[in-house]
Amino acid sequence: MVMNIPKENKEGFLKTELESTALLGVLFDYVSEISRERQIDKILMLMADLGKELAGADRCSLWLMSHNSDELWTKVAHGISRTRIPSSQGIVGLTFRERKPIIINDAYSDSRFNPEVDKKTGYRTRNIIALPIFGSDGEIMGVFQAINKITSDNGFSQTDLQRLTLAATYSGTALESAQMRQEIEDTQKDVIFMMGEAGEMRSKETGNHVRRVSEYSFVIAEGYGLPTQECELLRTCSPMHDIGKVVIPDVILMKPGKLTEEEFEIMKTHAEVGYHILRNSQRKILKSAAIVAHQHHEKWNGKGYPRGVAGEEIHLFGRITAIADVFDALGSDRVYKKAWELDRILALFKEERGQHFDPKLVDVFMDRLDALLQIHDRFKDK
Ligand code: C2E
Ligand code: SIN
Ligand code: SIN
Ligand code: SIN
Ligand code: FE
Ligand code: FE
Repeated sequence: MVMNIPKENKEGFLKTELESTALLGVLFDYVSEISRERQIDKILMLMADLGKELAGADRCSLWLMSHNSDELWTKVAHGISRTRIPSSQGIVGLTFRERKPIIINDAYSDSRFNPEVDKKTGYRTRNIIALPIFGSDGEIMGVFQAINKITSDNGFSQTDLQRLTLAATYSGTALESAQMRQEIEDTQKDVIFMMGEAGEMRSKETGNHVRRVSEYSFVIAEGYGLPTQECELLRTCSPMHDIGKVVIPDVILMKPGKLTEEEFEIMKTHAEVGYHILRNSQRKILKSAAIVAHQHHEKWNGKGYPRGVAGEEIHLFGRITAIADVFDALGSDRVYKKAWELDRILALFKEERGQHFDPKLVDVFMDRLDALLQIHDRFKDK
């Protein structure tokens, strides 16, 4: 930033209000930086810094409405450790509910201020200014709050309000589009999980199966040395590995005992079916999911299904998911079997190293066993 505003000064106030030219400079610098930023957290922090400079405040924070609108949240804010507040509380909450700015210049003689906050933090609040942030549709998105004017001892003024409103307006678009992007990504992940669960939900005891397989895959991919983005891609798509099970009849899927040869032939179609459900999308996540659905029952020695491909002909994602899937199936109760003891599971992986499973990946699996067991405990079946 071009401007150098003196730091907090608790005793003598610094009388360095921004002149209008300097103000424009600050605004321009920040807004251009904010508009290039794609991460919500960083945008919030930049906006808080901008607010601090524009209003000559000691602290500034941005609060966004959460999905249910009962809470406002922030990830980053000057001097605040708390990240969520109910929209019924505090000056921030009040501003949100009334959709109107509030200026309080003597906090301790204002009944709207709750001194409990200061008691906890040891901070002395004198002045507060808070204003609603509106989206382009006119709906409220959140609240901009600044605390303690440090460039004047008269507290916050209408000019400060105007400047913060300017900042909120000019940064709002960037914030809005980052939020939109986040929303789409989150929705995507939810839909993927729901699709994955749709493949599993009729076999009730596997409630957390898709989540565990997803996390196991990530750990193994990471241990193998795949770039983080690839690990994350696999984590996102592997929940869909069994989506083809949606077409498997209940009598087979939920059969308490061993499947007949005929039944198992039908069961095996889930790999091909999953592939057909997913393969037509051009989206990267769904393309990867198609590969995983198709290949998670292939074996390193070529004796798997549906195609019997071998070795590195099997996509790495398929080879990793195979390990994650079997590890989870063995470690969990199924309608057709009880969970195995860990020793027995490890014995199977040693035996199948280079047979069912890619030997290098079995080594990674053994190496990362602690992390895998932690996931197993964290997402236990109820
Ligand atoms: P799943 O339950 O998710 O199991 C995934 C894979 O874990 C299995 O693939 C297999 O490689 C391994 N696995 C699971 N249980 C055992 C076991 O007791 N011993 C050994 N050695 N490996 C095991 P697979 O065999 O291709 O089976 C695919 C799916 O077919 C299974 O998914 C499950 O839904 C179903 N299935 C397999 N066998 C039976 C069975 O005997 N009865 C019933 N009801 N379903 C079965
Ligand atoms: C804070 O800035 O300390 C939290 C906001 C509020 O409670 O009004
Ligand atoms: C592919 O690699 O795109 C084909 C999917 C598959 O072989 O499973
Ligand atoms: C067990 O002994 O059943 C737990 C092994 C596992 O983590 O799946
Ligand atoms: Fe499967
Ligand atoms: Fe599975």
